Amino acid sequence: MDSRESAAFSAETYFATQPAPPSLDHDRASVRDFVLRQTDLGNKVVLVTSGGTTVPLERNMVRYLDNFSAGTRGATSAEYFLKAGYAVIFMHRQFSLQPFSRHYSHSTNPFLDFLEIEHKPSASASALTTPEITVTPEKRADLLSVLTAYKTVQREGTLLTLSFVTVNDYLWLLRAVSEELSEMRRNAMYYLAAAVSDFFLPRQKMSEHKIQSGKGSLHIEMDQVPKILKPMVDEWTREGFIVSFKLETDPQLLLPKCRQALKRYGHQVVIGNDLNRRKFEVVFVSTNNGTLSESWLRLSEDLHTREIEEDIVDELVRRHQAWTNIKQ
Ligand code: PMT
Repeated sequence: MDSRESAAFSAETYFATQPAPPSLDHDRASVRDFVLRQTDLGNKVVLVTSGGTTVPLERNMVRYLDNFSAGTRGATSAEYFLKAGYAVIFMHRQFSLQPFSRHYSHSTNPFLDFLEIEHKPSASASALTTPEITVTPEKRADLLSVLTAYKTVQREGTLLTLSFVTVNDYLWLLRAVSEELSEMRRNAMYYLAAAVSDFFLPRQKMSEHKIQSGKGSLHIEMDQVPKILKPMVDEWTREGFIVSFKLETDPQLLLPKCRQALKRYGHQVVIGNDLNRRKFEVVFVSTNNGTLSESWLRLSEDLHTREIEEDIVDELVRRHQAWTNIKQ
C-alpha cells in the first residue's frame, strides 16, 4: 500500500458512489425522535463516537483492516456526560465498550466472578434446597453505584445507542446523526473520539469473493477516506460545539497536528493524546478571540482511581455552556 499514490475522494463523491448501510433510515428516525424528546425536556445533547472502524477487503468479507481503539475513551466520557445532565447519542463500534457495562468487561473484570450461589434451606426438611444468586459482599457497593446510575439513565431515556462496524457505516451514520442533531443548534455537542480509518477500498474496486492466496504477495491500493470534519463543520451541523481528537505516537508531532487540524477545519476544540500517555494526559487546543490557546490536563500518577475523562468532560461542559451563552 502506498499512500502517495492513493486517490482523494471528496465527501460528495464518497456519498454519491458508496452504498448506504441498510439500517440507516431506521437509525436516522430513532435519532430524530430522541432529539425531539430531549428538546422538549430542555436537555443538551452530545454525540459521542467511540471505537475503531474497519475496512473490508472483500464484498463477501473474510478479511478486513481494523483501527486500534477499545472504546474506553468514548464509553467513559459518555458516562460522565450523562452524570453532568446531558442526553447522549452513543455511536460506537459494535461490541466495543459501552457506558456502565464497561466496568464489567469480560476480560478485565468478568461479572460472573462477582456472583455467588447460595443454597438456602427449605421450610420442609424433605424438600430440595433452592439455589439463589447473590453478589460477593466486597463488590456490592461498586455494583450498586453503577447499577443505580444505569437504571436512572434507562428510566429517564437519556441514552441512545447506535452501532457501526465499517468506515462506510460510520461515515453515513455520522452524517445522518449530525444532520438530525443540528436541529438543536448550540445546544448540541459533537465529541469525536472514534478512531477512523484513513484509507479504504471503494466498493467498485473490491473483489466480490474471498481473495485467493497462492499468487505470492498481495498488493492493494487503497483510496483516502474523505476528511469529514470539513463538511461536518461547514454543512452538517449548525453552530454545534465540535470537539475532535488527535491521536499520535510521536510526541513531537502531537501539538503541530492539533494546531493544523484546528486551522484546517475551524471547529471549537482539538484534544490531542499520545497513544502511551492517553490515560494520564491530554492537551486541549482551541482559539480564543483569534489567538491559539493550549492547555494540558494531567492526572497525577498517584491518582489511580480517577479517570481523566471526568476532567475532560468537566472542562467541555464549562466551555459548551459559554458557547451556548454567546448571542446568535
Ligand atoms: O478507545 P481508547 O482505547 O480509549 O482510545 C481512545 C483514542 C485514542 C482512539 C481517542 O482518544 C482518539 O484519539 N480518537 C481519535 C483517533 C483518530 O482517529 O485520530 P485521527 O488523527 O485519525 O483523526 C483525527 C480526527 O479527524 C478525529 O476526530 C476524526 O473524527 C476526524 N477524522 C478522521 C478521519 C477522517 N476521514 N475524517 C475525519 O474527520
